[in-house]
Amino acid sequence: GKGGHRHFMAKEIAEQPSVISDVLGHYTKTGTRIDMPAELPDFAQIDRLILVACGTAFYACQTAKYWFEQLTGLPVDIDIASEFRYRSPPIGPRTAALFVSQSGETADTLAALRYCAGKADHILSICNVPQSSIARESTVALPTLAGVEIGVASTKAFTCQLTVLALLALHAARQRGHCDDATLAEHLTALRGLPGLLNLALGQEAEIETVSRELAEARDILFLGRGAMYPIALEGALKLKEISYIHAEGYASGELKHGPIALVDPAVPVIVFAPTDPLFDKTVSNMQEVMARQGKVLLVSDATGLDTAGPGSWATIQMPHVSPFLAPILYAIPAQLLAYHTAVAKGTDVDQPRNLAKSVTVE
Ligand code: M6R
Repeated sequence: GKGGHRHFMAKEIAEQPSVISDVLGHYTKTGTRIDMPAELPDFAQIDRLILVACGTAFYACQTAKYWFEQLTGLPVDIDIASEFRYRSPPIGPRTAALFVSQSGETADTLAALRYCAGKADHILSICNVPQSSIARESTVALPTLAGVEIGVASTKAFTCQLTVLALLALHAARQRGHCDDATLAEHLTALRGLPGLLNLALGQEAEIETVSRELAEARDILFLGRGAMYPIALEGALKLKEISYIHAEGYASGELKHGPIALVDPAVPVIVFAPTDPLFDKTVSNMQEVMARQGKVLLVSDATGLDTAGPGSWATIQMPHVSPFLAPILYAIPAQLLAYHTAVAKGTDVDQPRNLAKSVTVE
C-alpha cells in the first residue's frame, strides 16, 4: 500500500532517509571502512571508467563523474545507453564499464552492456532489482537496496544509486591512493550524516508545496546548477516534465548566457540549486543575470547562501548545510518535491503519467 500517503511517489520520497541508511549499513558493515564485493576490479589497475544508463539513472552517472574524477583521478566517460550502443565506441584495455538501472531491464542499457561484454575488462552494474537481466549479465552487481519502486518517476532509486556510486568512488579512491586518508574519512563521516540531512530537507515540504502551487501556473520552467548540481538541475527538469507535463529544461548555470537566457521573462520561473560551495559566487552571478531580465528566481540554498543571495529572488527554499560532496544527493529531495507538488496542484496522474512505463523494455 501507500503507507498513508496519497501517491506511491510521495511514499517513496519519504522513504529515502531509511533506505539510504540501509545502503550505508550494507556497504559499511565493518564500521570504519567501505565493504565492496571482492570480485570488483582493483581500481588501481583500471585506466578508464565508462558509465552508461538512461533517464534518471543517467543523471546519477553524470553526478558520479564529478566524484570519480576528483577522488580517483580516473578518466570517466558517461553516455546515455541509446547513443552509446549505436556509436561503436572503442573500448581499450584496462577499462571498467558500469551500467546503472533501477529495473535492470531497460533494453538500451542491456544492449550497451552486451556491446561491452568481451571488450571491457570488467562489466559492473548498479541495479535495484537483483534478479534483473542487467544484474545477472554483469560480473559484479551492486544492489541499490531501495526496495520496490512503484511510481513511474524514479525517486528513492536515484538517491540510492547516488549513494552507492559515492561509496564506490571512495572505495576506488582509496585503492588508487589518489586522495588522502583524512579526506576519505571526512567524506565517509559525511555520508553517515546523510539520512539526518535528508530528513531535514523533507521537513521543508510545506514551503515547497506553497511555491509549487504557483509553479503549476507556469508553461515553462528552467532549472540551473553548476558542477555536480548541474545533473540535479537536469533531474529536476525531467521529473517535472514527466509528472506535471510542464515544459522544463535544466542548464549548467554558466551556459545560460550562451543562449537559453533568451527564454527568460517574468513568466518563466528559474529554479536555482546553489548550496554554498566553491562555485557559489559564480552561480549567484548567473542568477543575477536572470533577475536583471525580470526572471522569477526560486533559490534553493542553505542559510548562508540565502542570506547572501536570497534578497531579490522571487522565492527561497532553505536546505541544511551540507558538504559539497553530498550536496547533489541532498538537493535531489527539493527537486523531487517540487515536481511532485506541482503535479498534485495541476491534478495530473502522479504515479502513472501519460505515455510512460516504469520499465522501458523496447529500444
Ligand atoms: O530502470 P532504469 O533505471 O534503467 O530506467 C531508466 C529510465 O527509463 C528511468 O530513469 C526514467 O527516466 C524514469 N521515469 C525517471 O523518473
